[in-house]
Amino acid sequence: MNSRLVIVTGANGAVGNSFVQHFLQQDNTTCVAISRSPMETASLNCQVDLLDSQATEATINQLELEGITDAILIHGVGKFKYESECESASVGTTQDEVDDEIFSSNYHTFVNVAEPLIAKLSRKHRRGSKTSLALCAFGSVTDKYKIPFWRSYTYAKDTLRDYIKKLAKSEEWQGLIRGRFINVSTTDTGNENKLRPCATAEEKKYWLKPEKIVEQSVAQLESLTPLWEEIDVYEPLPGFDPQTYYNNYDEIQSKWERQMGLETSR
Ligand SMILES: NC(=O)c1ccc[n+]([C@@H]2O[C@H](COP(=O)([O-])OP(=O)(O)OC[C@H]3O[C@@H](n4cnc5c(N)ncnc54)[C@H](OP(=O)(O)O)[C@@H]3O)[C@@H](O)[C@H]2O)c1
Repeated sequence: MNSRLVIVTGANGAVGNSFVQHFLQQDNTTCVAISRSPMETASLNCQVDLLDSQATEATINQLELEGITDAILIHGVGKFKYESECESASVGTTQDEVDDEIFSSNYHTFVNVAEPLIAKLSRKHRRGSKTSLALCAFGSVTDKYKIPFWRSYTYAKDTLRDYIKKLAKSEEWQGLIRGRFINVSTTDTGNENKLRPCATAEEKKYWLKPEKIVEQSVAQLESLTPLWEEIDVYEPLPGFDPQTYYNNYDEIQSKWERQMGLETSR
């Protein structure tokens, strides 16, 4: 019988928690919820700060992979920051110009889990096991537009995207690691509501519900093929043309600053 291990980070957040709720209902599946703060859950719960690589490695090393045929890592962590200073377009953003906290929250928190998990799997493979691993993280549907107001976030997501894609396509893994990047539009989470307290009820009607992300991505996540796939999940906004809107920085700025409750600088 096939047995799955699903590890969800950011399990206390709205997105992570929706995946925990889903996988708790599935047969032959052990669900591990990783959170920084304490949480109540029917799944196994590990509390660790994912920025602490040693503590994270110790947590991952405690997980039992014996008898597991497929492991799925779903990474529901990744801080966002609105950066109003935008003298330089983000197209040429370099690591030096990026906010370290945003980069670490999006990139290092993932790598700190993935590396010990892959090392553990690798030891298992050397003993003849064929356990597969899905690496899944979330990006924004805006990442492809390189919006200067969140250049650090986009840079971090692009770095993470490349990291997962490279592993999924690496010959060393012979197809045993697959990568999924789920790009979402504004999602109705605790942090988003804190960040944009002045968004109107009409605007929030089009914020994505975390359950919809699960519904629209879980089949691709579970599938062993293709080895690399990006999925866009969004709430269609009537009359919204992404090309026009995402290239109009004045409009983006005034909407965001109004929703965040900031005095507009213009
Ligand atoms: N919300 C959106 O509109 C949106 C849009 C595009 C992409 N995304 C992406 O979707 C994912 C989930 O978003 P979300 O809005 O659900 O996030 P969230 O509300 O910020 O939840 C994130 C969770 O991550 C945990 N966390 C943060 N730093 C941690 C650390 N160092 N170690 C362990 N846990 C940590 C938090 O734990 P504590 O509660 O303990 O602090 C929180 O439970 C993120 O990758 C985000 O970038 C979100």
